[in-house]
Amino acid sequence: MIKVNVKDVLATVSEATIKSYDKAAAEAIEKLHNGTGAGNDFLGWVNLPSTTPASLIEDIENVAKSLRESCEVVIAIGIGGSYLGAKAVIEALSDSFAAYRQGNGPKVLFAGQNIGEDYLYELQDYLKGKKFGIIVISKSGTTTEPAIAFRMLKEQLEASLGKAEASKRIIAITDARRGALRQLATEEGYKTFVIEDNVGGRFSVLTPVGLLPIAVAGFDIKALVAGAVEMEKATTVADDTNPSFLYATTRNALYNAGKKIEILVNYNPKLHFFAEWWKQLYGESEGKDHKGIFPAAVDNSTDLHSMGQWIQDGERSIFETVITVENQKHTLTIPSDDANLDGLNYIAGKRVDQVNKMAELGTRIAHVDGGVPNLLISIPALEERYLGQLIYFFEKGCGISGYILDVNPFNQPGVEDYKRNMFALLEKPGYEKETAAIKARL
Ligand code: PA5
Repeated sequence: MIKVNVKDVLATVSEATIKSYDKAAAEAIEKLHNGTGAGNDFLGWVNLPSTTPASLIEDIENVAKSLRESCEVVIAIGIGGSYLGAKAVIEALSDSFAAYRQGNGPKVLFAGQNIGEDYLYELQDYLKGKKFGIIVISKSGTTTEPAIAFRMLKEQLEASLGKAEASKRIIAITDARRGALRQLATEEGYKTFVIEDNVGGRFSVLTPVGLLPIAVAGFDIKALVAGAVEMEKATTVADDTNPSFLYATTRNALYNAGKKIEILVNYNPKLHFFAEWWKQLYGESEGKDHKGIFPAAVDNSTDLHSMGQWIQDGERSIFETVITVENQKHTLTIPSDDANLDGLNYIAGKRVDQVNKMAELGTRIAHVDGGVPNLLISIPALEERYLGQLIYFFEKGCGISGYILDVNPFNQPGVEDYKRNMFALLEKPGYEKETAAIKARL
């Protein structure tokens, strides 16, 4: 089970100060469980792991199997919550050099998470002559970035296989009834999975949105969901034995003590995209009403050589949440060298991970000494079960924390502003007034 340790924040906020948030956190848990808080029509994620039908998992696994058998590459198209969860889990579980290795099922690549012309051109070029399939994911079914990518890749697939065959290699994950993607999927006869109305994008990794690409990549989605079920059970109580409760109270105490930026720190490069997923979860959930901790992330020890100076010595507005992975998959020791010209014989015979752990411990001590409170989250290993726990831990922590902050953690009104401007600038029909207004400003 994952563990949370907050002892290294106590120089900044006392235990009593953290405890003073317990009442608000307990009320938050009640709102999440009873659906009595803001955004209560988006609470489908709260009991999702324990209520996911075995038949759905089986259906996802069967579709994944058929894609694995028929494709060399599968493109998962989506953005934000329809992208980051799958990317995070696949990266955390994959061989670091999977992209360069042959065999062992299809490569899962991503599109629609940007509007990079070169990215799409190069992807299409890479796919020439390859057997590929598409998983197109959009809850609203109307998001511009994935819609552009899907239009182009669908055309490419149809040109190479013909429309009828192509439609067998396209899976759509979208709303049960609404949106352009639902209509297209119905008309073209694609296999579909539903994103339930009551699960918001950034809370959807444990639905088909995340589970299908993860299964296509060859990972055990049953174990992922089972881990989330364990954490769902461990996070129902309203006290410090609930890790999400402790995380939420502690970070709110730190926020109100002037620590406005939280840096999620890892010492394992496979967690880079997990931090990207976390940034969206917390940033989009809490950053509203001119409030909210700014979520940032670093990959150490890499970033100690770029951001380390700022963190150690810059403005004291930050705290860190360090994810430590207790056990590595592989064992590698540092060899002894007779000449010892690099002076490294003092660590000869030690595992690489022992050195990494000392880098981590040394950094945590230095940062705490430098006025950066540290929360520590330990995860036994980068395995499906523990990632499932970690995902649900952060989701529950986010719901509790957002309610303590007194915002609606489940909407994202600010995301619409850029879309309105982009549509006005692109002269989308229906945006004539906005087009005139924005052009007058240029
Ligand atoms: O969390 C969210 O709701 C957003 O990040 C969405 O996931 C993102 O905007 C993509 O939306 P959609 O799945 O409707 O294309």
